[in-house]
Amino acid sequence: MGEIDIDGLGEDDARAELARLAGEIAYHDARYHTEDAPEISDRDYDALRRRNAAIEAKFPHLIREDSPTHRVGAPVAEGFSKIAHTVPMLSLGNAFDGEEVAEFAARVRKFLKMDEDAPLAFTAEPKIDGLALSLRYENGNLVQAATRGDGREGENVTANARTIADVPRNLIGDDVPEIFEARGEVYMSHTDFADLNARMAEESGRVFANPRNAAAGSLRQLDSTVTKARPLRFFAYGWGEVQGTLAETQSAVIAAMGRWGLTVNPRMNRCDSVEDMLDYHRALEADRADLGYDIDGVVYKVDNLALQGRLGFRSREPRWAIAHKFAAEVATTVLEAIEIQVGRTGSLTPVAKLRPVTVGGVVVSNATLHNEDYIKGIGGKGEPLREGRDLRPGDTVQVYRAGDVIPKVVDVDLSKRPKNSAAFIFPDTCPQCGSDAVREEGEAVRRCVGGLICPAQAVERLKHFVSRNAADIDGLGAKQIEAFWQDGWIKQAADIYMLEERYGGDGLQALKNKEGWGPRSAENLFRAIDERRTLPLDRFLFALGIRHVGEGTAALLARSYLSWDAFRNAMEAIAAGDKSAHDALIDIHRTGDSLAKALAAFFGEAHNQDSLDALLSQVTVEDADPPNVEGVLAGKTVVITGTLQHKSRDEVKKDAEAAGAKVSGSVSAKTDYLLAGEKAGSKLKKAEELGIKVLTEDDWLALIGT
Ligand code: IVH
Repeated sequence: MGEIDIDGLGEDDARAELARLAGEIAYHDARYHTEDAPEISDRDYDALRRRNAAIEAKFPHLIREDSPTHRVGAPVAEGFSKIAHTVPMLSLGNAFDGEEVAEFAARVRKFLKMDEDAPLAFTAEPKIDGLALSLRYENGNLVQAATRGDGREGENVTANARTIADVPRNLIGDDVPEIFEARGEVYMSHTDFADLNARMAEESGRVFANPRNAAAGSLRQLDSTVTKARPLRFFAYGWGEVQGTLAETQSAVIAAMGRWGLTVNPRMNRCDSVEDMLDYHRALEADRADLGYDIDGVVYKVDNLALQGRLGFRSREPRWAIAHKFAAEVATTVLEAIEIQVGRTGSLTPVAKLRPVTVGGVVVSNATLHNEDYIKGIGGKGEPLREGRDLRPGDTVQVYRAGDVIPKVVDVDLSKRPKNSAAFIFPDTCPQCGSDAVREEGEAVRRCVGGLICPAQAVERLKHFVSRNAADIDGLGAKQIEAFWQDGWIKQAADIYMLEERYGGDGLQALKNKEGWGPRSAENLFRAIDERRTLPLDRFLFALGIRHVGEGTAALLARSYLSWDAFRNAMEAIAAGDKSAHDALIDIHRTGDSLAKALAAFFGEAHNQDSLDALLSQVTVEDADPPNVEGVLAGKTVVITGTLQHKSRDEVKKDAEAAGAKVSGSVSAKTDYLLAGEKAGSKLKKAEELGIKVLTEDDWLALIGT
């Protein structure tokens, strides 16, 4: 059939052609692999694949999900034998800056005794971060593939190499040398790497750290059906043994290799000066994030092959080539999205979803954005906000990672900002549960007030609910909560108390038949839960896991409000804006109104009210003991300071409370007594200034009579 020249293909034609090729190649794959009855020659088959690949290269955005490039296969399994390289596979020297590149060019000239101004061309191309592979073609047929190994001897990975779509089984053209060892790099694209890892995470829980490891691990599989399922790619950039004639320059041979059917890198360029080389390096580094695969620098090669021959090698590196590396710890990539994660206390943390990029040897696709303000004006490494440098999805950003540090987005390239981009609007509702997300004055963090109903917070709060100082349910720890949560057996605290009713029987949905449980442990758990159907008010308040309500505050609140109903009524009043209820709370707590705000937010949320109602239908909350109104210290506020001789501070505190006092941490006009032990400092001074009654330890013991 008359095929349209690829160069003349419009987008619609290309799309149609890719669809046709996908179908046709799939058909021939089936004939060849599963039915063992090919209908066309290998040569014709390869031509179809090459045509497909060429169109895909020109229209990468049209690459189909079912692209034949993703689907390859020649199921052959064999162990790795060793293969000696007739021409060794070498490594490259490195240059880290422009000066070193200039020195390289000068060395070449000096070696060749060339004048400074005599023309000398170099090729420049991406340094692919993968692993080297040598493909031996005899009379155009792929007969052997070998890894680099130690450079002299590699592993025979022929069966695996045959499964790589970019590795043609035949080279086509009348100028293909009789023997041609094509050399290049096996690699994995970012998207294929991400897909593979997602698949592996699901199947085995193990993932590859970066595409390079994934490519190496996949190529060196003893079972080539495994390699076949891995989306490997290959760029040819050089050659080993050759029998036959080649063109006279590196660039001409590479062009020929492309014509023969090998995949060569489209970014290869010719440079006529060090300036050109450095321009190329800058341009490639800028485009690094858009290539779709990892590169770690630029390779420059002397273009003229006769000169390459004269230059030869020094130890294991060619004198005619050098790698110009990119800086390692900062990478440029695209911020694809900003996602909001919800933490244990409901904090909304923005996370950068990045186009995967390798930074310091690890693929990074997430990085922290700290908080709302960080997005509004990104600083440098740990620097404060910079006006006008906000982050938007679609932005080209710099990602920094050193050692084990969590990757950070450290800068944005405003010159690359897409025209249609819009400032990121930080959500004021929780992305997990839809509740309000509020930011308190002076706080950098916005928090979801969804409390118990927010799934992200709920599981952490459940763990807190059952913990030792809260409801203290024996045999129900974080691990069990996590498992019950996964199974949907416990979604809120009330569900804990319904476990027996729902899952106490026989059958599959019975706790005793669940993995990790038996009749005895199930019984024990149900008993432990029953023992906690009545909870003291202070424990109950603490167990709710409301922000700012630690154990001490819970105890204080319990002593102040005495009953759950009184407490709840007051909190609902506060949530509804009742000022006197608010002031009463502030008066108890005295530490500003962050607690009041947290409580108001919690009780103002309908979801929390529902969860509480459900819980209270299962649990009885015991009233707190009324304060000792007859105690010698009833209604008094006491502050303790200094070193005590006779009792621990905790015991003194307990005595004081038993005598009806409130123990406070700081001296104020409301303090009635300061108990000052040895070496009392600023509190004593302040108490004296305020004219507060100061007691020695002996005075104290006499006062409370113990
Ligand atoms: S040429 C004799 N070109 O980098 C010269 N190597 O650090 C041989 N590499 O072993 C190498 N991209 O695995 C060359 N465009 C490229 C390359 C490249 C990646 C790898 C190759 C080599 C290693 C040396």
